[in-house]
Amino acid sequence: MRVLSGIQPTGRFHWGNYFGAIRQYIDLQDEDESYYFIANLHALTTVRDPVELRQLTQNAAVDLLALGLDPERATLFVQSDVPEVCELTWLLMTVTPMGLLERCHAYKEKKARGLPADAGLFTYPVLMAADILAYDADVVPVGEDQVQHIEVCRDIAGSFNHKFGDTFVLPNAKVLDSSKKVPGTNGDKMSKSYNNTIEIFEPLKPQRKKLMRIETDSRPMEDPKEPDDDHLFQLYSLFADDAQRAELAATYRRGGFGYGDVKKQLADVSEQYFAEARSRHAEFSSAPDRVQEILADGARKARQKAGEVLRRAQGACGVKGPTA
Ligand code: TRP
Repeated sequence: MRVLSGIQPTGRFHWGNYFGAIRQYIDLQDEDESYYFIANLHALTTVRDPVELRQLTQNAAVDLLALGLDPERATLFVQSDVPEVCELTWLLMTVTPMGLLERCHAYKEKKARGLPADAGLFTYPVLMAADILAYDADVVPVGEDQVQHIEVCRDIAGSFNHKFGDTFVLPNAKVLDSSKKVPGTNGDKMSKSYNNTIEIFEPLKPQRKKLMRIETDSRPMEDPKEPDDDHLFQLYSLFADDAQRAELAATYRRGGFGYGDVKKQLADVSEQYFAEARSRHAEFSSAPDRVQEILADGARKARQKAGEVLRRAQGACGVKGPTA
């Protein structure tokens, strides 16, 4: 089984990114082969500041390595370091119906709001299809919002295979388990656009302060409370083991506790949970050359595979290969 996924470097990763996606990607790194890349070409459709984009790309690499992505087991690289993918994008573009892309949600929503869309946003799903097909990936772990793009990828691959003979492997989406809801500091879903995130690697002191300021309801302390409806309890549950979770649940049901204590406990378990990742983060942050080496090594491996598939596709459609 060959696993592949791409992650856009559009900001520092937060707890929601981790439990909702990154941890699940990393859990798949032991499949036969796994490829993870930082999708800086896709990010270019939203991040327009070159200094920022470079920084975000480097940060994403450091964060992923710190969180346990292991370059010995998985191939980690930056999307733009594999130019074969862009060549493949063009070949795919020639078999992609406009209508297919017009139905894709990112473009459709922008148009519906009357905003100007560029060709990068419109053809975003074709680049994404090339990302996937270039490595003969069978399984693509993604969030719910990306499932449509995997369908598009299958359509495009099918259309190419139909015209030119069997060339591409049709991938399957593996939809990430979103049952672990991650609420933000105000109780809504944790998301950069709601401004309620807790970044994984923000310095501990301000992070603790932020945790102590998580919004809670103002019911009297003495009242017994139902833990499962409480976002503070949900956050705690992400980090706690079963025994700790059961104990805190019992405290909630008994009543007579303060939210301040729960917040302190949350700060303690989360600090402990990420302690190892934090120390790796410090190591990688102070060794940018080492990170560059890992990415260069990943790109070398990725290009080898992508080159093979590109030549296969070029031969199939007649832009390379022997003349009759
Ligand atoms: N579009 C994806 C996202 O925003 C990122 C991505 C780019 C990707 N290329 C990919 C994901 C290929 C999976 C496979 O999340």
